[in-house]
Amino acid sequence: MDTLSSPRVADVLTALFDDAVTADQSMAQKSDDVLIDDDMMSWAIAEERRDYKAFYQSYPGNYWCIAPEFGRLLYVLARACGARRIVEFGTSFGVSTIHLASALRDAGGGGKVITTEIVPEKSARARQNLAAAGLDDLVEFRVGDALETLQDGFDGPVDLLLLDGAFSLYHPVLRLVEPYLRPGSLVLGENALETAGPFLDYVRDPANGYAGLTLPFEPSRGNHLAVRTG
Ligand SMILES: C[S@@+](CC[C@H](N)C(=O)[O-])C[C@H]1O[C@@H](n2cnc3c(N)ncnc32)[C@H](O)[C@@H]1O
Repeated sequence: MDTLSSPRVADVLTALFDDAVTADQSMAQKSDDVLIDDDMMSWAIAEERRDYKAFYQSYPGNYWCIAPEFGRLLYVLARACGARRIVEFGTSFGVSTIHLASALRDAGGGGKVITTEIVPEKSARARQNLAAAGLDDLVEFRVGDALETLQDGFDGPVDLLLLDGAFSLYHPVLRLVEPYLRPGSLVLGENALETAGPFLDYVRDPANGYAGLTLPFEPSRGNHLAVRTG
C-alpha cells in the first residue's frame, strides 16, 4: 500500500480537508460582500498585491489548500520524476506537504521537502500535522518570507518546485530556486493566473528553458505544469 492511502495519512488528510471547508468560509465574510470564484480570486490578488505580508498575516486561520485531486497529482509527479529534493512555496497547514512527503517516503531512502511559510502559527500547525501523519522526518520547515528563507539555497539539485504562496511572488521565487533546478525537474504553479504577475509569460517563453501547459483541472483553475528543459 502506498503511504498516501495508508490509514494514518488518509485519516489526517480527511480531517484537514474537512476542517478547511469551515475555516475558509471566513475569508468571504471578511471582504465587503460575499464573493465567490472569479470575484474572490480577483479580490485576493488585488489585496495581496497591495501588501502581501499584511494580507497573509491577517488570515492565520485559513487553509487555502490544494484540492484532493491536485494532491494526488503532486504525489504521482513526485514519484514519476524520482524526486529527492522538493521545494514548496506556501506551507499553510501542510496539506500539500503531506502529499509530497508521502511520495518521498515511498521512493525510499530519505529525501527532503523544504517548505516555507510566512505566518509562524501556520508553520507550527503544519509541523503538528506532518508529525500526526508520521512524515515530519522528511520535511524542513523554513519560517518567514520566501524571498528571504530561500535565499540560503539548498544542499543539492531540486527535482520539483511547487509555487503556492503569494501569487505576485511566483516569478521572483522561481528565479531564486532556478539555479538549483535540474534538467527534467518539474515546476508547478498553483492558480497561476494571467493577472497575478509575470510568472506565466516567463515559463511560456521557451528561451527561458521551460516547456509546459496549464492543466484543465477542476475545481481549482490555472494550475500550470512545466518541465525544466535546459
Ligand atoms: C494557498 S496557501 C498554501 C496552501 C498549501 N500549499 C496547501 O496546499 O496546504 C498560501 C500560503 O502561502 C503563504 N505565503 C504567502 N506569501 C508568502 C511568502 N512571501 N513567503 C512564505 N509564505 C507565504 C500564506 O501565508 C499561505 O499560508
